[in-house]
Amino acid sequence: MIELGVNIDHVATLREARKGAAPDVILAAKLCELAGAHQITVHLRQDRRHIQDRDIEQLRQVLQVRMNLEMAAVDEIVAIAHRLKPHTVCLVPENRQEITTEGGLDVEAQQDRLAEVVAGMHAHGIKSSMFIDPEPKQIEASAAIGADSVELHTGAYANARGADVQHELQRLAKCAEYVRRFPGLALHAGHGLTVRNLRPVAELPGLREVNIGHDIIARAVFIGLEAAVQEILDVLEMYAEED
Ligand code: PXP
Repeated sequence: MIELGVNIDHVATLREARKGAAPDVILAAKLCELAGAHQITVHLRQDRRHIQDRDIEQLRQVLQVRMNLEMAAVDEIVAIAHRLKPHTVCLVPENRQEITTEGGLDVEAQQDRLAEVVAGMHAHGIKSSMFIDPEPKQIEASAAIGADSVELHTGAYANARGADVQHELQRLAKCAEYVRRFPGLALHAGHGLTVRNLRPVAELPGLREVNIGHDIIARAVFIGLEAAVQEILDVLEMYAEED
């Protein structure tokens, strides 16, 4: 089955709106776990706008499922990852002005630096994923630096309308096929995915994991967190991975 990572950053965003204790990020993570999520994803941003250091410290203690730490490849956060040892880090570009991660990481342009970060993660027993736009050259570069997976940025697909939807799906499908040429590289996808637009992405050949945040937390406001996780799992269960 394609595995689900639930990104709980938005629970922390709501908490930080009042700088208090509610809603409880740890409780949210445990409810996602209880509902069947395979992984909890959190982005420790340099500006700490949502997830805080104490959140990831506590999550590392209490989670039974995997922890996936989204992060910029900067020394401060690399050192935190080495100390906490999440199961995976997902390297993302970070721009202080953005509302959310806007584009993929340009792995090709920073191969030397990213190869160093990936090697450091491996030395600490941590897998590395590259959050990339669906472009073959970024897949090649990710394989070349020894990444364990690529997470294809599905934001352009999620935002597309009309004929552009098929165009964006074709880009994703071409990249999914291309990833198969690199046996050490697993295929993940994420950004802007929802219970309504997930199916065509779940059909991508070889897809192992999706990371979904905003839609699950937004729907949780109305139907509860466990139900919001469950309805995504219901979609994923229909698409067993083909290998
Ligand atoms: N994957 C990555 C690498 C991301 O940066 C994000 C957003 O934090 C997500 C997945 C989840 O995106 P969304 O909140 O739109 O589901």
